[in-house]
Amino acid sequence: MSKVQGPKSKHANGHWTLDFWTLDIGHFWMLKVINVVGARPNFIKVAPLVEAMKRREREFTPLLVHTGQHYDPNMTEAFVRDLDLPQPDLHLNVGSGSHAAQTAAVMERFEPVVLREKPDWVLVVGDVNSTLACALVCVKLGVKVAHVEAGLRSHDRTMPEEINRVLTDQISDLLFTPSRDADDNLRAEGIPQERIRFVGNIMIDSLFKQLARSKDSTIREELGISDKDYAVLTLHRPSNVDEPKTFQGILDALEEIGRRIPIVFPVHPRTRKMIADFGLDERIENVSGLRVIEPLGYLDFLGLYSQARLVLTDSGGIQEETTVLGIPCLTLRENTERPITVEMGTNTIVGTDPGKIITEAFAALDGSKKWNHKVPPLWDGHTADRILAALS
Ligand code: UD1
Ligand code: UDP
Repeated sequence: MSKVQGPKSKHANGHWTLDFWTLDIGHFWMLKVINVVGARPNFIKVAPLVEAMKRREREFTPLLVHTGQHYDPNMTEAFVRDLDLPQPDLHLNVGSGSHAAQTAAVMERFEPVVLREKPDWVLVVGDVNSTLACALVCVKLGVKVAHVEAGLRSHDRTMPEEINRVLTDQISDLLFTPSRDADDNLRAEGIPQERIRFVGNIMIDSLFKQLARSKDSTIREELGISDKDYAVLTLHRPSNVDEPKTFQGILDALEEIGRRIPIVFPVHPRTRKMIADFGLDERIENVSGLRVIEPLGYLDFLGLYSQARLVLTDSGGIQEETTVLGIPCLTLRENTERPITVEMGTNTIVGTDPGKIITEAFAALDGSKKWNHKVPPLWDGHTADRILAALS
């Protein structure tokens, strides 16, 4: 809680002295905070922040602004419901578009919101187009913006998210990092230490909060796999699903792995679109053991992957969640912005070569590959509280 300490003072008549006063301003100085969500992983990161602000309602007035970057109910509303988020106060309805069109639309629609609401802080999370667009609006208006999940770097500038990360970090006033390597990345880019706060991983606040509830999910019964070993797959990186050769190579690997163990594949809308564009529907239907389903809400997905033998993914967040739960994770990318999940967790970067994917998957399933896994420092479920302490 913020405190203001007064100077020693003397009454004008000189008869008495007021030596010391301390005014607890926590109850008087209310901070208005705009929390931005746009794409699926943003809901998971913002939910614990809004919840913590509501708990401290005499200090914080949270507003929730949804840019509308994602809009399918199973990419948005399902998360509002599962994570106990309030309905967004404002919806900007930007929808899909090219990077420039989407980023510009968010900026154009977010600017009047900031001008009208005059927040003390704007919180942006992660690395999606909405993150950069809203941070840019704030810095141009001179409104304070804090970036949650700052400092992650894949050092691969062909990734749209890497550009969003680098630029958002350069212009944000406060940078909340999930791991010490992120602090190092920021300092290496010339960002002064006083803007950096190591607070831990906000996604893990949601994971710990919802883990018990996810046990009630009936998804495994619905899929008929409650008594089976199975793997879970997610794919949505443009470098995998927008490139037909890479995508088909991954399918080659899945054909082998699917003969050994059922693979449940909740398909991201980008991936669904690319499957249709490349005419891959029939090929995918014929991959034995591959179970293609719609994207799942947070609780069903957690209920599913938390019991899996193996996860194959190109998602950022899933690398972190599997690390905390100790589930073997093969990341189908050439790099990661989350190296701590490899150093301390259960993540292996396998790339997209089919032979390598098969070898690593079988090693994980055989138990011949072992991890000495630990939960990274401050991935403890209390990151939102540390962020609020730094804002107040
Ligand atoms: C975005 C983020 C990515 C993040 C991912 C999380 C950027 C540049 N990318 O990728 O970092 O990991 O979200 O899931 O911000 N679509 C729908 N319905 C939706 C949303 C998207 O059909 O609700 C389809 C549209 O065809 C759209 C495509 O998916 O063009 C891509 O959506 P977009 O938000 O541009 O990027 P994502 O691949 O979802
Ligand atoms: N997720 C989910 N349902 C799914 C797939 C993923 O709830 O069908 C969750 C997952 O547990 C994680 C987050 O979505 O919390 C990751 O989002 P995504 O992979 O879309 O984005 P990234 O983390 O790569 O930016």
